[in-house]
Amino acid sequence: MGKINVLSTQVANLIAAGEVVDRPASVVKELMENSIDAHAEHITVEIKNGGVSYIRVSDDGSGIAPEDMPLALKRHATSKIEKAADLSAIFTLGFRGEALAAISSVSKVRILSKTEDAQNGTLLFADGGEIMEVRETGCPKGTTITVEELFANVPARRKFLKKDSTEAAAVCAAVEKVALSHPEIAFRLISDGNVKLESAGDGKLDHAIYSILGKDFAKRLLQVKCHSDGVDVYGYIGRSDNVKPTRNFQNFFINHRYVKSRTAMAALEQAYSSYIAPEKFPSCVLFIDIHPGAVDVNVHPAKLEVKFSNEKLIFDTVYYAVRSTIEKNIDRPDLILRSPSPAAHSTLNAFVPVMDRAERQTFMPEQARIDRQGQIAFASSVSDQFREQVRREWNPDPAQVTPVKEPLPSEAPKFAPQIDIPIPQAPVYTEPVVQETVTQAKAEIAETPLPDYRIIGAAFNTYIFVETEGRVVIIDKHAAHERILFESLRGKLRGFSPAPQMLLVPITVGLSQSDFHAVVEYADSFREVGFDFDLEHDQRQVKLIQIPSALKISDVEDVFATMADRLADGTGNVEITKQDAYERALYQASCKAAMKGGRSDSEADMRFVVEKILTIPDITVCPHGRPVVINLSKHDLDKQFGRE
Ligand SMILES: Nc1ncnc2c1ncn2[C@@H]1O[C@H](COP(=O)(O)OP(=O)(O)O)[C@@H](O)[C@H]1O
Ligand SMILES: [Mg+2]
Repeated sequence: MGKINVLSTQVANLIAAGEVVDRPASVVKELMENSIDAHAEHITVEIKNGGVSYIRVSDDGSGIAPEDMPLALKRHATSKIEKAADLSAIFTLGFRGEALAAISSVSKVRILSKTEDAQNGTLLFADGGEIMEVRETGCPKGTTITVEELFANVPARRKFLKKDSTEAAAVCAAVEKVALSHPEIAFRLISDGNVKLESAGDGKLDHAIYSILGKDFAKRLLQVKCHSDGVDVYGYIGRSDNVKPTRNFQNFFINHRYVKSRTAMAALEQAYSSYIAPEKFPSCVLFIDIHPGAVDVNVHPAKLEVKFSNEKLIFDTVYYAVRSTIEKNIDRPDLILRSPSPAAHSTLNAFVPVMDRAERQTFMPEQARIDRQGQIAFASSVSDQFREQVRREWNPDPAQVTPVKEPLPSEAPKFAPQIDIPIPQAPVYTEPVVQETVTQAKAEIAETPLPDYRIIGAAFNTYIFVETEGRVVIIDKHAAHERILFESLRGKLRGFSPAPQMLLVPITVGLSQSDFHAVVEYADSFREVGFDFDLEHDQRQVKLIQIPSALKISDVEDVFATMADRLADGTGNVEITKQDAYERALYQASCKAAMKGGRSDSEADMRFVVEKILTIPDITVCPHGRPVVINLSKHDLDKQFGRE
């Protein structure tokens, strides 16, 4: 007897449903996508218990005609495509006609909808996929879909749901992505009666980012705008001080659909290399608009992945859009001293004699005292108002007021004015940039004439203070030296070709099959950086006979193997991967070879760094994205001392 059963439609539907909806967040995503496809201007999502007991999505979109209502729940019933050919260019978020069928087969669904021209609305109620009731009713234009008791009839699936709060967080994340993808739609998410998210829907991406990802994230972004060969890349990328420990802040929208695109992520990350620490991830809200025929969205059950007909074009466009934005927008920051409060300059204060600690203490109210660091400290019981009053009278700088119980750490500056180092707001970059090739990008960095300067000295053996042209330039000697070495190694500084060093005793590097293969394939690239070697094919070994001058013998093996490894697993454009691999390897070398903070260096070494920094304005950040130089203007100092 045969063993194969043909499953009933109901079981088949349940299996299919498992692919489309696996938790409340995916239900919410599907329903919101339907609202967007219906051209809604306002979409409100309401959930209870993380969406497990209740989900409601309402919109003011085009609505469902009464005669279409019963069809909407059928599998493969859609108003968005008609024939096979339509699959080759999809203009809507949905197209499979599966979501409502799937959702209704695993819950109780209520749909209330009205189209513009229908006299009345229609109400439909279904339980476990079976339509229980359809009737006419009065309602405004648009659609409201309520989903209750999700997976009540599929215990196996329900068991896998997490705590309500975790499911609620996943719903919130899904709404965030969808709301970011359509700044022209006003979104609102209510969870257990509390508004969790609200976007204005005014069409401005920066406003949407601000309300969805927060002020702190929104203020540390650079704008990206780039067009090439039918691909538009635009949106925002995080500045080098807005990096994250995970990829969770990488938002890519292909034709306004949130997707996880390996190609786009790789391009983004490679574009940031040498601008942020390697273990950190850049953040972005980037839109990639491309003709729908050039991207296949029908490759993933939840439509979270896509396939491009030309992956390389996407990689290159994203890479150059991001890289050129970063390169054009990084400047040396100014050190801005916080303006002293007016009290410090009042005529009254001008005549107050300087008192020592004990003397000041005798004039202070009982509940306040001057601590050993000269700070005003308060008994924990005193009111904020009292603190404020004493602070105003006795200390012009609010930053110095500390409660008694929390002594300042000993390294805290004493009476030092607070400093803010604003990273300059970048101008908006709009020119097309993709025409730039890797070779062009490798052009030499321009040097300017050396101005008159005087080294004041090095503070903490870490920061070199230099006076020049009406300002004090503060240089982080390690970061600066590292960047200079790096630029010289990759041949971007004149007179600094990577002069290699010959090895008296060759160094042998053993490699894995794929890494060895990468060395064979990219042998020229390795030689360009200053390596020379013999290949021992049978043992998969590389015998190094010459290495780049900046590399220390002890680091050679590590750097060479890392470079091989990076080349072996390259994604996207080989040229860029190669360049990226070099850069990472060279950075490693530069970091190790650079002067170390905290150690003293010779006058000549300091002079070398200072002169390079003064003549190469393009050197702005170290490989970890930290500034290498900060400017302090005379004007700011004058202001601080009340000379202006
Ligand atoms: N919010 C809505 N507004 C208007 N029509 C809707 C809405 N939700 C669903 N529909 C209709 O129901 C159909 C089925 O929806 P769904 O199962 O999600 O499939 P798909 O989105 O792939 O077409 C849609 O094609 C659309 O015609
Ligand atoms: Mg849909």
